Formats: sequence, structure tokens, C-alpha cells
Amino acid sequence: MKIEKTLQSKRHGVDFENLKFGERFSDHMASCEYRDDKWQTPEIIPFGNISVSPAMCCFHYGQMVFEGLKAFYAGDRINIFRPEKYHERHNRSCKRLCIPYMDQELFLSVIKALVTLDIDWVPRGSGTSLYIRPFVFATENFLGVKVSDTYRFMVITSPVGAYYKEGLNPVKLITSGAYTRAARGGLGEVKTPANYAASLFPAEEAKNKGYTQVLWLDGIEDKFIEEVGTMNICFVINDILITPSLDGTILPGITRDSVIFLAKEWGIKIEERPISIYEVIDASKKGTLQEVFGTGTAAVISPVGEIRHKDEIIMVNNGRIGELSQKFYDEITGIQYGKLKDKYGWTMSILL
Ligand code: COI
Repeated sequence: MKIEKTLQSKRHGVDFENLKFGERFSDHMASCEYRDDKWQTPEIIPFGNISVSPAMCCFHYGQMVFEGLKAFYAGDRINIFRPEKYHERHNRSCKRLCIPYMDQELFLSVIKALVTLDIDWVPRGSGTSLYIRPFVFATENFLGVKVSDTYRFMVITSPVGAYYKEGLNPVKLITSGAYTRAARGGLGEVKTPANYAASLFPAEEAKNKGYTQVLWLDGIEDKFIEEVGTMNICFVINDILITPSLDGTILPGITRDSVIFLAKEWGIKIEERPISIYEVIDASKKGTLQEVFGTGTAAVISPVGEIRHKDEIIMVNNGRIGELSQKFYDEITGIQYGKLKDKYGWTMSILL
């Protein structure tokens, strides 16, 4: 791998005590081109603008995918959380977008080399991490709708704090109303920018009504809960953890997977199945709705304090974080920050 170091670090200009999400970028970035039917030798170069043609096909037809994973300061080491799982999902997304497969060794070695070079950018404050954003885009300059012959894979990193300004305080959600995020067979389970572009307008409307995010309902019956766009969603009803099943319209979250794994380990009853908004309203009325929380790499475990569906307002756990939400948060972040033993082999470590 070719490495070109920056002559002038930008680190001193960053307020590490007050990190928000995704506003600052570390000194270097990785880049690897795909041409002649193979991925070429990757390089790490100073972070900066890239020069591309306005005819580059991904600008026009969106043939691109991205990932998001995190590195955590753990005292004597940096822990990257479940990178193999993110690699697996990256390739599943690539397949749906006709982007060439990347092998695990290349994906992980690029990330490891980049984080190692910018190791001082991994923040040390509570709740902070280095967010790692791999992405790949089609680079052929061509205006016909077709699969590109060439691609560029890049990785940038960003020291981050909490994704939502609420932090661990509960967020407020509103159901999707007139809008649909995904339909079966579409792109809903793929980490591609189109999903996020489609969510922007409804998310703005939600924000204008005082809600943090949209809770997406299914596109056919308009009642089954899907996800929140920036995170998956879990309900605790009658001591059962219920989360929508992965039927093709929902992003298969790695934090969701970790929560399901832990729930099974802890003997908590878990159901992955369709759950309708009316079941949640009903549980709330009966007093059996105990907790609602989102799971995501950026969001971690994010308690939900209120859900609005049409004229119904569901208040959850008096706007406080639930016991189980807190337990998942403590276990997952405990492993990430090296405070708990990594019993499940979830971290890839870089020793300091
Ligand atoms: C993540 O959780 O990593 C995401 O990609 C969600 C969001 C920042 C788009």
C-alpha cells in the first residue's frame, strides 16, 4: 500500500471536547481504483478534494454504496467494532448495485492502515469514537444508463460525538404518513445513497413538526413498522423484545444484530417479526409497552420517548431510557471501549 503523509496536520484546529457528528475529518483518506477487472493497489493520501469529471456516471444514476463503522479508544488499544460484519454487508450492497466484490483482506487492511496512521484522531471522551466511512462509486464518464466498468473505493474518517443532539435522552418519532421508504425487491436493505436521499424531504417535515426522525411504515399496508432510516427499531412489550424482521425493505444493522445476539445470550425472549403500529398503540393503551429504542452504528442505542401516528401520541416509559435499553447500551459500549471482556470476538484491535 502506498502511503503519502500530510505535511500539515489539521488536528490542532479540532475541539475534541465538543464533537458533533461528521463535521470534522482526519488528516488522511484511503483510495483504491477498480479497472481492468480488478482492484488496484490502494493508497493513503492526505485528506482533500478529489477531481472528477462532471460526466461521471454515479452523479447521474447513483451507482454507489457506503458503510459506516467505528473505532473506539480503549486505553491501551483502539478497538474497531465488528469490521468483518460491515465488510459482509458492504459486499451485499455492492452486489445489488452491480459494483465489484471486494475481498475482506483488502477492505480490512485499508481501514486498519488508515486508522493506524490517524490514530491520534480517535477521540478519548465519553461517548466519542472515530467514525469510519468507506464508500465506493462508479467512475466511468458516460451518460447512458449502464453498469460502469470502473470504480473508486475510498475511506474517510471523522471524530464524532453523539449522532442525535439528544444523546442518550429519548428521541421523538413520527410515522411516515404519505411517504414510503422502500418496497420489497427495491433498495431498502442496501446501504446506498438513494435510500437516504428519499428520506430527506419527509425528515424535514418531521423536524418542522418537532420530531427527531421519521418512523417508516411499510409501503403496502401502511401499518407495519420498518425502521427509522438512520437506525433499526426495537420494542419491549410484555417483557418480549420485538423487532421487525429483515424482509428486504429494512437495512440489516450490525448493532441490531448485536442486540439480537445479546438478547439470546441473556435468555430474553425475542421475536423478529412484522409488528404493526396498531399493535404498539394497543400495547401502550394496555400498559404493556415497556420500552422502545433504536439501534445503529451512528445512533448506538437510542431510546425513543414518543411516537406520533396520525392523531395518536404514544408516550414511552415516561420519556426515560428503559432498563433493557440501558443494559444493551452498557454491554455494547463496554465491549467497544474495552471496559468489558470481548467474549464474542467482536473487536479488531490496534495496540497503542
Ligand atoms: C450509520 O449508522 O453508520 C449510518 O450510516 C446512519 C447514518 C449516519 C446515515
